[in-house]
Amino acid sequence: TTPTPVLVAIDGPAGSGKSSVSKAVASRLGYGFLDTGAAYRALAWLVLENGIDQNDADAVIRILADFDYEIGTDPAEYHVRVGANDVTDAIREPRVSAAVSAIARVPEVRSHLVELFRSIAAGVDKPGIVVEGRDITTVVAPDAPVRILLTASEEARMARRSAELQDDAAATAGAELKKRDQADSRVVDFLNAAEGVTTVDSTELNFAETVDAVIAVIAATDTTA
Ligand code: DC
Repeated sequence: TTPTPVLVAIDGPAGSGKSSVSKAVASRLGYGFLDTGAAYRALAWLVLENGIDQNDADAVIRILADFDYEIGTDPAEYHVRVGANDVTDAIREPRVSAAVSAIARVPEVRSHLVELFRSIAAGVDKPGIVVEGRDITTVVAPDAPVRILLTASEEARMARRSAELQDDAAATAGAELKKRDQADSRVVDFLNAAEGVTTVDSTELNFAETVDAVIAVIAATDTTA
């Protein structure tokens, strides 16, 4: 029998570096990687593609039944597919970022995706899986052996996001990030660590140091228990 993969749960706000850090941690440990935000984004992409208003919860719930998507769990071959479309890049477009919070607020969407995340995590063909998002430590996998909240000051998060963009786009992106965090934190509290969750604050750390800090937390946990 195959042992149950070790689940490393990582939550945090936008711009905390959680996706790239989680992917690097997974690579180093030979674990799988699941970016749950990508699933919410993929659904938002499908909603927009079908000309549905993201605030029309009933229409969003209806499309959920036809939501055929795949998120690669191999950190070296990360991809997202919806139906026959590779949407790996398309789900990062600003129009998707702007629509995703409204979709992630619908309880039926959340419960549907939470079930999918649990089955993907349980079925990964690796010794473990790093699952990152907003409600992994609290809702998706509250019993995970390793639970981490990856934070950074708002200033640091905006600076990192801006560094990826041109000057004029940076100001818009900063405002957008703040707005999305506010909208998202009304649904799940990912700004404060739940009981038993270890906080890793990356404000003063560079990328490699943040990866090391997360790996140190995992190493300090008896994941065989
Ligand atoms: O991490 P991200 O920016 O790719 O996430 C996209 C959106 O999905 C974000 O606005 C919040 C939502 N989300 C969520 O509600 N729960 C998760 N576990 C992951 C993401």
